[in-house]
Amino acid sequence: MRVLFATSEAAPLVKTGGLGDVAGALPAALAARGADVRVLLPGYRPVMAALAGTHHGAHHRADRGADRGAGTSARSRMQPGVTVPAHAGIPAACLLERRGPGDVPCYVIDCPALYDRDGGPYQDATGIDWRDNAMRFGLLSRVAALLGCASSPLDWRPEVVHCNDWQTGLAPAYLRYATDARAASVITIHNLAFQGIFPPGLLAPLGLPPASFTVGGLEYHGSISFLKAALAFADAITTVSPTYAREIQSEPLGFGLQGLLGQRADVLTGIQNGIDTGVWDPARDPHIVARYGPDSLDRKAANKRALQKRMGLAADAAVPLVAIVSRLTEQKGIDLVVEAARWIVGLPAQLVVVGTGAREYESAVQAVAARHPGRAAALIGFDEPLAHLVEAGADMFLMPSRFEPSGLNQMYSQRYGTPPVVHATGGLADSVVDCTPATLADGTATGFTFAAATGIALLDAVDRAVTAYRDPPTWRALQRNGMARDFSWSAAAARYVEIYARVARRA
Ligand code: ADP
Ligand code: GLC
Repeated sequence: MRVLFATSEAAPLVKTGGLGDVAGALPAALAARGADVRVLLPGYRPVMAALAGTHHGAHHRADRGADRGAGTSARSRMQPGVTVPAHAGIPAACLLERRGPGDVPCYVIDCPALYDRDGGPYQDATGIDWRDNAMRFGLLSRVAALLGCASSPLDWRPEVVHCNDWQTGLAPAYLRYATDARAASVITIHNLAFQGIFPPGLLAPLGLPPASFTVGGLEYHGSISFLKAALAFADAITTVSPTYAREIQSEPLGFGLQGLLGQRADVLTGIQNGIDTGVWDPARDPHIVARYGPDSLDRKAANKRALQKRMGLAADAAVPLVAIVSRLTEQKGIDLVVEAARWIVGLPAQLVVVGTGAREYESAVQAVAARHPGRAAALIGFDEPLAHLVEAGADMFLMPSRFEPSGLNQMYSQRYGTPPVVHATGGLADSVVDCTPATLADGTATGFTFAAATGIALLDAVDRAVTAYRDPPTWRALQRNGMARDFSWSAAAARYVEIYARVARRA
């Protein structure tokens, strides 16, 4: 099965959140199941820099593990670029073939006018969306579709184009209106809250026919919706957990697309994400102070000491340390943490927040830290090594998300013996088993869940967690249950391969 995995980010080359982690790991898991999968990624400045610094031939597959940890896994297999012609208002580009994350072949779209700049993949350094995002991701979508057509400039032709989120959402529309389309398409929704809505005047520059601009197509309240294009035209729709697949078929989590998703329920599947168990492994993690496994959990204490020191918290081995690493946005329920903070530190417990996002939340968590010196601490920034130390050093991990399509940190936390405390929504509900007398007795308990996204419910769950923490046999059981769970990508990869086979057959 030949699959083109089109994505706007892929760790460790470029990552703003969970999509980066998924695209950095799932393709390799698909390859391990025998799929001939290749990644398609925009050539942002840092991606080009990372790939340019690689030497061809000098590194072999055996280097891979170490490379990943150091964040420089891409090894090029130098080949001259292939030209992709301009299309309507979308400029011409050059397609470079390299080795991407996990040693998976990767096509990088080199188009300096659209991608060669400082700042993030979606926004400039001040947090404003790039003004030309429609064209930047129109190009990504267009190339994804073109590679699935007879007119592709490459010899290699995918049977399935696997799109991810709105940034690749136009690909199924381009395929739908191509006269020589060969590939089927799949769209995975990682977050329905981001839809890629642009003015209707961009239809012609994007090279899409007026016929596509209808209620049954990509028109959304008079605008162009990249994500709706994919939901309307893709052969299959997946999202990143079974519960989220149900939640998005009604208000409020359908974000206006619940009707369309309900109509297409027969091709909609929820597949819980996996995690990269090589990168997130407490027994091998290069970013933590003391490595450990289920039988050496005592060593976790050294990581807690290091985290307390790093964050300026009191060095106290006994006090439970509660942490969160997250985008600081309304989705993630950061305001609930701020609201509950003074009660949490009063339990007593220590609180660590690491994240970036909305200015108001950044200031609010900084204010919490300032109010409770030694007991609460905040780091505003994106710090991957610190995220690993937090997983290893904290006693429990908070995820009070209002909605969470999959969530990854609750799985990292279980693997690190750091029971998560989560709002029972989406992928959090699907991957954390609440600690009750029954689930403790049958050995399934792995964390704490709460039903309402409120500060009180969050506090109540943290309180239950702290009570369990004070009972070492219970706590060890919770930690070991979580560490024993298989969160690897292999089960999810098998489900994707089934879906590819189904849509390819139909195409
Ligand atoms: P989302 O994609 O909605 O942000 P996920 O739970 O799927 O949520 O994934 C978030 C990923 O980004 C995790 O790997 C998490 O550790 C990481 N992350 C988020 N914020 C930060 C940060 N400030 N520093 C380091 N890593 C972060
Ligand atoms: C999105 C979701 C998150 C999910 C990630 C990867 O960013 O918010 O829940 O884990 O995508 O699928």
